[in-house]
Amino acid sequence: GPTLRALAARADVRIGTAVNMDALASDTPYREHVAREFNTVTAENVMKWEATEPQRGAHDWAAADQLVDFARANRQLVRGHTLVWHNQNPSWVTEGDFSSAELRQILKKHIQDEVRHFKGRIWHWDVANEIFTDDGQWRNTIWLEKLGPGYVADALRWAHQADPKARLYLNDYNVEGINAKSTAYYNLIKQLRSEGVPVHGFGIQGHLGVQYGFPGQVLENLQRFDALGVETAFTEVDVRMPMPADATKLQAQAFAYSALLQACLLARKCVSYTVWGFTDKYSWVPDWFEGEGAANLLDENYGPKPAHAAVSSTL
Ligand code: XIL
Repeated sequence: GPTLRALAARADVRIGTAVNMDALASDTPYREHVAREFNTVTAENVMKWEATEPQRGAHDWAAADQLVDFARANRQLVRGHTLVWHNQNPSWVTEGDFSSAELRQILKKHIQDEVRHFKGRIWHWDVANEIFTDDGQWRNTIWLEKLGPGYVADALRWAHQADPKARLYLNDYNVEGINAKSTAYYNLIKQLRSEGVPVHGFGIQGHLGVQYGFPGQVLENLQRFDALGVETAFTEVDVRMPMPADATKLQAQAFAYSALLQACLLARKCVSYTVWGFTDKYSWVPDWFEGEGAANLLDENYGPKPAHAAVSSTL
C-alpha cells in the first residue's frame, strides 16, 4: 500500500518517528523504513544534554548532526528533543554544586549553544519536558529548586532569540485527555502567551498501556489548545502491554494508536503524530517497564501488527 508519509501528506498532518542512531547506522531495513514511511524525525537520545555536552564546554554534535543531515536528504522535518529536563543531564551539571546565578547562566548557555548550532534546521523544539507532576503541581527538579518556575519562560525566550523561526513546545506524558496535568499546561501556556512569552505548541507524548484503558476527552483537550491559538502534536506515541501479547491486547493497541491519530486529524491545529520508534526491535519499553513490551507498530522482524493497519486506514 501507500507509505504512511504519503497518506499523511494527503491528510495534511506530519507523521514521525523517534530515531535510534545506532540502529540507523547499522540496520539497513531500519534506515529504509525511517526514510520511506516518515516525514518528520525526533532524536530518541542524541540531542539530550548528556549527549551533546558530556564534559563542560566540550560539545559533541556528531550523532545529532547525522540525524539532521539524514532528515534533509529524505525531506523530513526535525523535532528537537529536548532542552530542559530533569533526566539525561550531564553529571557535571547535576553534581556541580553551582549557585542559582551560576546554574541560570549554565542553562542559558546550553540552550543558546544547542539552538544556535541547529539554527534553521529544527521545526519544533521541545524546550521544556515533563515540568509538571500528574496532579498538576510543578515537578521538583534542580531547575525548579534553584531557579524557580520562571525557568520555563526564560528557556522559551532564550530558545526564541537563538532561532526565531523554530516552533517552541512544552512536552509531557499523561496529558492526552483532560486532567489535572493537562489543565496545568493549559493554564501555564495561556498565562505565558498573555505575557508575550514565545510558546507555540503543546506536545503530548502519548505513552499509553492497554491495561490502563484509553484516556477520556482527548479531542476536547486538543480543542481547548486550538481555541488558545496553540498548536498541538503527538510526540512520542507508543502503546505497551503486559507480555505476552495476544490478539485482544493487539486489538486494544490498534484502537489506541488509531484513536489518538483520529483526534489529531479532527483538531484544527494538531500538526504532527510521532511514534516513539516504529519497531519492537529497538523499543525502550522492555528496559523501563518490567514485564511489558510489544509497544510499536511493527514487530521485531518489521512485520506489521494490527496497529499498523489501523494507523494506515485512519490516515
Ligand atoms: C527515553 C529513550 O527512549 C530511552 O532510550 C532512554 O534511555 C530514556 O529516554 N519521555 C521522553 C523521552 O521525553 O525522551 C524518553 O526517551 C521516554 C519518555
